[in-house]
Amino acid sequence: MSSERIFIFDTTLRDGEQSPGISLNSFEKLEIAEQLARLGVDVIEAGFPISSPGDFEGVRKIARSVRGVAVCALARAIENDVTTAWDAIKEAERPRIHTFISTSDVHLKHQLRKSRAEVLEIARKMVALAASLCDDVEFSAMDATRSDPDFLAGVLAAAVEEGARTINIPDTVGYAVPSEFSSFIRGQFERAPALNDVVVSVHCHNDLGLAVANSLAAIEAGATQIECAVNGLGERAGNASLEEIVMILETRRALLGPVTGVNTTEITRTSRLVSQLTGYDVQPNKAIVGKNAFAHESGIHQDGVLKERTTYEIMNAATVGRGQSDIVLGKHSGRHALKSAMEELGYRLQEEELNQAFAHFKKIADRKKQVTAVDLEHLVSEEVRELSDIFELKSYDVAASSDSVPASRVVIEKEGGRLAGKSESGGSMESIFKAIDNAVGAKGKLKDYQVRSVTEGKDSLGEVRVVVEVAEKPYAGAALSIDVVEASAKAYVRALNNAYRAGAVK
Ligand code: KIV
Ligand code: ZN
Repeated sequence: MSSERIFIFDTTLRDGEQSPGISLNSFEKLEIAEQLARLGVDVIEAGFPISSPGDFEGVRKIARSVRGVAVCALARAIENDVTTAWDAIKEAERPRIHTFISTSDVHLKHQLRKSRAEVLEIARKMVALAASLCDDVEFSAMDATRSDPDFLAGVLAAAVEEGARTINIPDTVGYAVPSEFSSFIRGQFERAPALNDVVVSVHCHNDLGLAVANSLAAIEAGATQIECAVNGLGERAGNASLEEIVMILETRRALLGPVTGVNTTEITRTSRLVSQLTGYDVQPNKAIVGKNAFAHESGIHQDGVLKERTTYEIMNAATVGRGQSDIVLGKHSGRHALKSAMEELGYRLQEEELNQAFAHFKKIADRKKQVTAVDLEHLVSEEVRELSDIFELKSYDVAASSDSVPASRVVIEKEGGRLAGKSESGGSMESIFKAIDNAVGAKGKLKDYQVRSVTEGKDSLGEVRVVVEVAEKPYAGAALSIDVVEASAKAYVRALNNAYRAGAVK
């Protein structure tokens, strides 16, 4: 193992956000970025600014306020992409432009319709342009693992010559296997010795379930930056999972050697926040962050762990921040108690934010005996989601019984005005969703509806997630309440807020 330190490049907000159905607004992105900074990643890839005005805004917000970490923006090797990426990140403490172009023949022939010589020339020019704007430039050769190794090495060497300080070798389609990938990376060091002077990075996709294994193989071959995403989010089957990479290096340090700068006790909270705001559940048996990752079911295992934890546990759950907080608030807890509980969880609330959070907290505490750390984390996500809503559910009324057709009425606030809607139809959820459509003037089709409890007990907060199709495009929405009807109505309204931002609802 050649390096003492592995840099963690987090792409949850860029490649992760490309997962189908995820659409984070700029406030949600900022909340995740702040948590990633607390987690201690080295680079946050905040987005792809040319892709939409919303993405540009999200990246700029993060660049302006998140400190102590490099903030990176993605750009195709196209002049306008590169200058737009720079505009979005130039106010960051440590800005990085990440530009890329494909190098495999299959991409050159069918997608770019360019010759190898043209691609080499474009890579040179765009890296040089990026380096003229920003000190820190990363270059990626897309579909590197299916590229001719000699051509690839030539492009990578040219990128270093033009000023790239990080060279990324992606397994874009998740095709590599570990032994092959480590020889491939070694081969690139041999063909392009200039790689020894820069950070060599890998970005592995999980199409064959090998993203983490391939990333580890690349470390063994000399890579010092790993691109990964929280909960393994990303295009198709996702990217290498951040928590798995970090915990492999941590747990097997004696064998593997290098370390990351990640504060592992923040892993669980980061995973939960990302899951809440993206609407992507974590599978229960997912390594490190799944609900069952530290649960022992068989009697033999339970017996062993009770006698000595290490009989069946290779990691201590506390190392990844599980079950650490014993915060419990109740309806008599005051603003001060809420403020210090929030601080203990890592949230520094400004006066106005605290007022809002307190009002929200009181509503929950009036109906729920104990408000725990997990409830408070959800409360924060709920506040973040509300920040950019244009439609707000003010009141609702549903009349339902086994003998009548459910009837609903809603009042929605939009920019200070009130919109009323009503409906009588099918089931009670259907009638409330139709009443909302009616108030907002939308034609939504419910594509997915999920309810789950946030904690245990009959008085647990319920979280509802919906996907609503408007004008043939899906929009996700999630909301939380002690009452599942209210959570459903709010989640539906939130999906329409997302549709509004995309211009699908007026
Ligand atoms: O998968 C990929 O190749 C990418 C690049 C933009 C790095 O996401
Ligand atoms: Zn990717």
